[in-house]
Amino acid sequence: PDTITIAIDGPAGAGKGTLARRLADYYHLALLDTGLTYRAVAHMLIDKGWPLDDVAHAIEAAKLVDLGHLDRKVLSAHAVGEAASRVAVIPDVRKILVEKQRQFARSPQGAVLDGRDIGTVVCPDADVKLYVTASAEVRAQRRLAEIEANGGTADFAGILADIERRDERDTGRADSPLRPADDAHLLDTSEMDIEAAFSAARDIVDRVL
Ligand code: C5P
Repeated sequence: PDTITIAIDGPAGAGKGTLARRLADYYHLALLDTGLTYRAVAHMLIDKGWPLDDVAHAIEAAKLVDLGHLDRKVLSAHAVGEAASRVAVIPDVRKILVEKQRQFARSPQGAVLDGRDIGTVVCPDADVKLYVTASAEVRAQRRLAEIEANGGTADFAGILADIERRDERDTGRADSPLRPADDAHLLDTSEMDIEAAFSAARDIVDRVL
């Protein structure tokens, strides 16, 4: 094919963000981390002091999300991710953001999108679907290492509990729960470093090119 769409889904901390970036660079595809769109909605609500279950304001915020102006630095805070998983249960918010994500997926040079529902809802016709996982313990360990590398401290049990709570919210919600598409390739990175995961993903993509 001339252009391809790659859909990457999986739970928080499985390494899908890094993998998405590496694949986008390698195949010269546009990249959208769709988690940032939910984070942007949560951030606007927090900023204005509105509750996260204020549906009317969440819808207003979703309409204002501009894919060209998603500031990863502002949106990366742990609390924003937590809040994002709460606004992400609102069907009308999802509808608005999914429409913007689909438009991005039509980028003329092809695109990589990563999130929770890309292969199942946003891009059900994607050329390649990857479902990237790792055990909750491994994901918690990676998160702890990242915090410590940045000079912070945290305790393993607390991080693990956070991860398990977020997994539960993302897999348990009624609208677009996190789950692998029937035609997704499963990639368990528990025992892989990023190079091994990237190489495995490339093998899968190269088979459809
Ligand atoms: O991937 P990230 O941690 O940035 O996502 C934050 C939250 O946004 C997720 O926990 C999930 O609830 C929500 N999300 C979603 N659908 C997506 C991407 C993210 O529901 N496609």
